[in-house]
Amino acid sequence: MGVLKYLASSHLLADSSEYRHGNLVFFDMSGFFVLSYPARIGTIVNYIIGTVALFYLSKNTIKYKRAARTFHNLNGEVVKTDSGIWINAFDYSGLFHVTPHIPELNDTVRAPCEDAPFCGYPWFFPVHFLLRKNWYLPTPPPPLSENMVFKLASREEMPWGATRLNFEVKGPSHMTVYVRPHDPFVLSSWSLGDGIPVPSNGGDYFVYYSHGLQAPVWKFWIELKGSDDYSDGMVTVAVASHYFFGSNQHSPQLDALLHKFPDWSFPSSWVSTYDLFVY
Ligand SMILES: *[C@@H]1O[C@H](CO)[C@@H](O)[C@H](O)[C@H]1NC(C)=O
Repeated sequence: MGVLKYLASSHLLADSSEYRHGNLVFFDMSGFFVLSYPARIGTIVNYIIGTVALFYLSKNTIKYKRAARTFHNLNGEVVKTDSGIWINAFDYSGLFHVTPHIPELNDTVRAPCEDAPFCGYPWFFPVHFLLRKNWYLPTPPPPLSENMVFKLASREEMPWGATRLNFEVKGPSHMTVYVRPHDPFVLSSWSLGDGIPVPSNGGDYFVYYSHGLQAPVWKFWIELKGSDDYSDGMVTVAVASHYFFGSNQHSPQLDALLHKFPDWSFPSSWVSTYDLFVY
């Protein structure tokens, strides 16, 4: 979609005679934005790899409900918690040209895909199928001055046979929510958009939410249908926060790693958290 929109509005199509540098290379981030440059520059960019690398410091707290029958409340046991620097390289050669400068960034720290929505990482856009190579360097958690609050406010049995989960979220200006219904449950409706959930590539659902600096609690609901047997839980819901500015954008480990990058690279970084719940 993004590529089509770009082509439709591109002045290059209107007057292609001015444009003699060879083929264009398009990189479509799932319709969100498009990069274009002449193929010759593309070749150069591919040599200067690490040109665009994305960094997140992720405080990764994975929470599961152990007794699925008590999924009504949020007092679930924490089964796993970790933190680290999560790295996505935008170039096909990955970190090949970065590793000589930063030896700890090598293939021994490729990020494993967790059995969780979007592999258990705080994707800012649902582009996990485009950026397949990721790295995860364990570090202490970032020093956040505030914590996101994500809670199941209530659970309702609807007359049409669905279970509605009402959520309340208080967090930073940018947050993303990931939903994975457990077979045979399906996500039949939600309070977002036109009410009809559309899955992302791979079947998980992705929600992008942002607000101004002062905002009330974000309330939304999801509805699940499918079975009377809730013993394994109906759904996994994960939520990520993204700190793009202010002191929360930084951590000592993240800043130290950024300083090691060669000066021809263009790293972009921020701090995220990821919390996962099963209901
Ligand atoms: C690869 O990275 C790991 C973890 O950061 C590090 O322990 C190891 O020494 C690195 N290997 C090389 C050859 O530098």
